[in-house]
Amino acid sequence: MSQVPPTQDRPACLSTDEQGIARACGLLEQGELVALPTETVYGLGADARNDQACAKIFEAKGRPTFNPLIVHVADLAQVAQIADVTDTARILADRFWPGPLTLVLRLRPDHGLSPLVSAGLPTVAIRIPNHPVAQNILRRFGGPIAAPSANRSGRLSPTSAEHVARSLGNRIAAIVDGGPCPVGLESSIVDASQKPAKLLREGGIAREEISALTGALVSDLTPGRVAAPGQMSSHYAPNAPLRINQDLSDPTRLRIAFGPMGDADFTLSEKGDLREAAAALFSILHHADAELALRGKTGIDVAPVPQKGLGLAINDRLMRAAAPRD
Ligand code: TXA
Ligand code: MG
Repeated sequence: MSQVPPTQDRPACLSTDEQGIARACGLLEQGELVALPTETVYGLGADARNDQACAKIFEAKGRPTFNPLIVHVADLAQVAQIADVTDTARILADRFWPGPLTLVLRLRPDHGLSPLVSAGLPTVAIRIPNHPVAQNILRRFGGPIAAPSANRSGRLSPTSAEHVARSLGNRIAAIVDGGPCPVGLESSIVDASQKPAKLLREGGIAREEISALTGALVSDLTPGRVAAPGQMSSHYAPNAPLRINQDLSDPTRLRIAFGPMGDADFTLSEKGDLREAAAALFSILHHADAELALRGKTGIDVAPVPQKGLGLAINDRLMRAAAPRD
């Protein structure tokens, strides 16, 4: 994983002055990971339009699954470019944005985000943070920043630059040190893509404050956690029947290689690189699904992917896609 500068074993610690913000934006533009302060917790930021950069997030966090990520933007105009802003969303946005609220909304067809951000779902989790440093970076960067909490998977969310450095160390390019996070608790997540609105995670805004505006609020809560959309066994399945760990010798199947293409129809990564494979995974699965009938194939076969590093998340996703349907 690249570091700045390449010889140091800790990430660059950037200040919140003009120069620090410019450097942070430069690194984001280059597809690097930059931890940044928000009012809730520190986020592990990457350019949300860049597949490789988003793949690095999962790698750095050591996430064994492709949980969808929260996208951060500067203003409502940017939200509307990415997702359909429903009436409920508008009401909540007026009251709570910028602030510790994340809305799940339906993606627009021309959203421009990496499919890794939404992990193949038709919806996206999005928020406008109100931390001045996050705002500054978002405005100067000018595009959407994907940022889960900046901790290794399964660890506590970081509320200081020091927490981030301890958890992610040299796995990231830089940390912008904006001091301690004022809220210190992740954002509340509300699915406002449909009625009634659904509370998916308790967070920085009390549920009564939300339901005062939305009316009845269905809750879909696992205490302290999101009712993770990726956890149902066949949730992300393509329509076509899919088999994993195949030797790709069956020409009646649409074949996805890992490594050199050979006779296969697609490869996750020609050079057998896991980060590249993760970055390509969702696009290739969508594409394969669409091509199946056109090419007269009976299903999709995928070659074995090494069970290490990002391969764990790739295999998790493939196993879900291959799981028997309900
Ligand atoms: O306060 C916060 O929300 C922080 C700061 C950095 O903004 N971010 C954060 O992100 O807590 P993360 O990745 O740790 O949690 C995001 C949660 C995940 O559990 C994920 O399942 C859920 O949001 N999520 C993302 N996209 C979703 C979607 N389309 N539908 C439902 N849940 C979604
Ligand atoms: Mg988290």
